[in-house]
Amino acid sequence: MTYLTSTDEHAVEIVNLKSLEALVKERMVAQGNRGAFGYLRGAAEDEWTLRENTESFNRKTIVPRVLRGIDSADLSTSIFGIPLKTPIIQAPVAAQGLAHMEGEVDTAKGMEKVGSLFSISTYGSTTVEEAAEAVNGAPQFFQLYMSKDDEFNQYLLNKAVKAGVKAIILTADSTLGGYREEDVVSKFQFPIPMKNLESYSVTDGVGKGIFEIFGAAKQGLVLDDIQKIKNWTNLPVLVKGIQSPIDALEAITAGADGIWVSNHGGRQLDGGPASFDVLPAIAAVVKKRVPIVFDSGVRRGEHVFKALASGADLVAIGRPIIWGLNLGGADGVASVVEHLNHELSITMQLAGAKDIESVKTTELL
Ligand code: FNR
Repeated sequence: MTYLTSTDEHAVEIVNLKSLEALVKERMVAQGNRGAFGYLRGAAEDEWTLRENTESFNRKTIVPRVLRGIDSADLSTSIFGIPLKTPIIQAPVAAQGLAHMEGEVDTAKGMEKVGSLFSISTYGSTTVEEAAEAVNGAPQFFQLYMSKDDEFNQYLLNKAVKAGVKAIILTADSTLGGYREEDVVSKFQFPIPMKNLESYSVTDGVGKGIFEIFGAAKQGLVLDDIQKIKNWTNLPVLVKGIQSPIDALEAITAGADGIWVSNHGGRQLDGGPASFDVLPAIAAVVKKRVPIVFDSGVRRGEHVFKALASGADLVAIGRPIIWGLNLGGADGVASVVEHLNHELSITMQLAGAKDIESVKTTELL
């Protein structure tokens, strides 16, 4: 049966990011896609870490500075020499065709519109080539779920290099899927293909659950895999899913060009700390040697500010961008980032930080 989902293409009026989830749930359930919505929203076990991810931002406060002559906020920044109009980027999310018929093509266009960065997942519903062609040379990264089969890894990475991606994200926290009860209850199976797998693998994912998909991934990931990927691609490699300062140090020693602090939005290990709670200790050992990307639980401009003030260089957004995609396609994705930019600009001006560098030196209490 053909899977049908949103075809909307328009800007979305947003009061706050939190309210988008309920709107999307109503629409997806009405289209008969309750299981797909559950996959997109869900997290592991009791979803304690999911809740902690957002609540943890309330345990720190921003100490505002005044009388600093700041009449506007400059959000521009960069990573690996790539200029960005905002520190808010998109986190790699699998199977975006569940949320919108155009899938990752629209997300890529939306991120291009706001002058930011798009990353395509190994398990995307469009190919790395299609996502790259959708935007005229706008920067994109490729997220790798490493396979047990090195020939397949090289095949995938070759495709990514040829498509012109600027970096590889090695996701290290998902050697198997977390226990997500919503998927268990709905017996969720992917109704659409994972196109990057299609031309090589024995399965394109259709009719498979997350445990079967991750079954083909390399469970025994090791530090040496970082250098392997660098040798294959000659591109910078970011390691995603870092929560421990020791892992951050070891990854840098093993050649990592960037550290991506994340707990996968609470979808993997429930009972782990909020991602924001581990960020300062990781930033303290990284000592600005490589850039730090942060994600998990970010829903407010204030959260973006606090993450930057705690050592992050860029802040990535997962689910809310998918809600924007469902509600309005590429324009909906752009609306989500524009709204967060708006909140961040207000926070910056009220906190007395004129640019991203000043945000990074703002005191948190
Ligand atoms: C993800 N995430 C993810 N990460 C990754 O490296 N590769 C992937 O394919 C996916 N797929 C994926 C699917 C869905 C539906 C979600 C919600 C998330 C994790 C993602 O990159 C990011 O770490 C979290 O989404 C960040 O948390 P928030 O912003 O959703 O709270």
